[in-house]
Amino acid sequence: MRNAVATSMEKIVSLCKRRGFIFPSSEIYGGLGSTWDYGPLGVELKNNVKAAWWKAVVHERDDMVGLDASILMHPKTWEASGHTSNFNDIVVECKKCNKRFREDHLIKGKCPQCGGTEFTEGRAFNLMFKTQVGAVADESSIIYLRPETAQGIFVNFKNVLDATHRKLPFGIAQIGKSFRNEVTPGNFTFRMREFEQMEIEYFTTPKDAAACYERWINERFSWYTSLGIRKENLQQRPHASDELAHYAKGCTDIEYQFPFGWSELEGIANRSDYDLKQHAKFSGVDLQYQDPVTTEKFFPHVIEPSGGVDRATLAFLVDAYDEEEVEGRQRVVLRLSKPLAPIKVAVLPLIKKNEPLVALAKNLKKDLQKEFTCVYDDTAAIGKLYRRQDEIGTFYCVTVDVQSLEDKQVTVRERDTMRQERVPVDNVQRYLEDKLNKNL
Ligand code: GAP
Repeated sequence: MRNAVATSMEKIVSLCKRRGFIFPSSEIYGGLGSTWDYGPLGVELKNNVKAAWWKAVVHERDDMVGLDASILMHPKTWEASGHTSNFNDIVVECKKCNKRFREDHLIKGKCPQCGGTEFTEGRAFNLMFKTQVGAVADESSIIYLRPETAQGIFVNFKNVLDATHRKLPFGIAQIGKSFRNEVTPGNFTFRMREFEQMEIEYFTTPKDAAACYERWINERFSWYTSLGIRKENLQQRPHASDELAHYAKGCTDIEYQFPFGWSELEGIANRSDYDLKQHAKFSGVDLQYQDPVTTEKFFPHVIEPSGGVDRATLAFLVDAYDEEEVEGRQRVVLRLSKPLAPIKVAVLPLIKKNEPLVALAKNLKKDLQKEFTCVYDDTAAIGKLYRRQDEIGTFYCVTVDVQSLEDKQVTVRERDTMRQERVPVDNVQRYLEDKLNKNL
């Protein structure tokens, strides 16, 4: 049923623009480098990705709670985390075309733009966006747009502990915007300057940290496959010891095989007790945990599964994209999983000038939209309407025809198999609930 179509980024970018998933930001002004806007279907898809993550890592677990911290944080946060001094890329300028690149993004020592081989000396470039808080612009008013959501969790560790009386191990999950002044952004929404992260800080004892790390790698890998990504397009890449920060005990990337090559979707890091220790040192607040049985005090160790919402959304789109030949014509179908499909049901009246038929279709849509994301479309012939819905991943099309007025039945067509079934109007909602809620 499923072709292993190796799609191109051009096809994905074109589909996203054409059908309203993702647009270039500020396009009428010529766009702004590496910022993208999610359109009507994109926002539904991205919200579904976030909801699926939240359900899996917060609601379906006993050991996790959520948080929504501010984007703007006290500047000392970034001193403690090391971002002020270390969150740098080494940047070089090509002497031939004068474009600037990350040194590690040169292709075999050559400029990716013009192929030049001579560069200026590498310079450290801090990726944090600076801004100022309040009406007086001086050194003391400088703050940063957060480059990761993780620090919002660490600075709230004590608040959450005091409020919830959690015992180790437990984790805090957060979804939110992060900002990085990337030097060489690109590959559509893969590397953006403004993006969303979904991060977990999982606090545990030093003794259990290594086992927790392994568990989270497997759980996070399974999350992607449970939502439809083919296993053969995912891999785990443990970092070599020279890639690790000095405090890290391990890091494994979950990589997806994008059209531009294997690239990181999410990193799972064993961060030891570095973060809480640093914040305790810089804030002067005791961030240790007291074991309720032994009364021993210590800094919990942290396992950090850190993923990107936009990268995950892009991977789901790429993996779902399929083309097949049906009756001599090409059908493009987005085989998104049930929880992720932006539109679950399309109601399609076969004739738009038949009042009772239109009324039946509109009433049906009104009922169904209480339960599922629905669209109503009467702007083309039925074959074209089906193709439009296939291309955006709509799971079911419900067609209302003249016969429906007599036998009170409608045709329900399934996206992947294209199988059609007549279903009594009064049963359609229950029929779809049954089909769609399976695996939701
Ligand atoms: N707190 C750890 C941390 O932020 P990271 O590897 O720098 O680690 C985690 O980022 C995830 O955030 C990445 O795996 C990726 O999915 C996403 N991400 C990072 N930079 C990004 C960018 N410029 N554009 C889109 N997503 C990005």
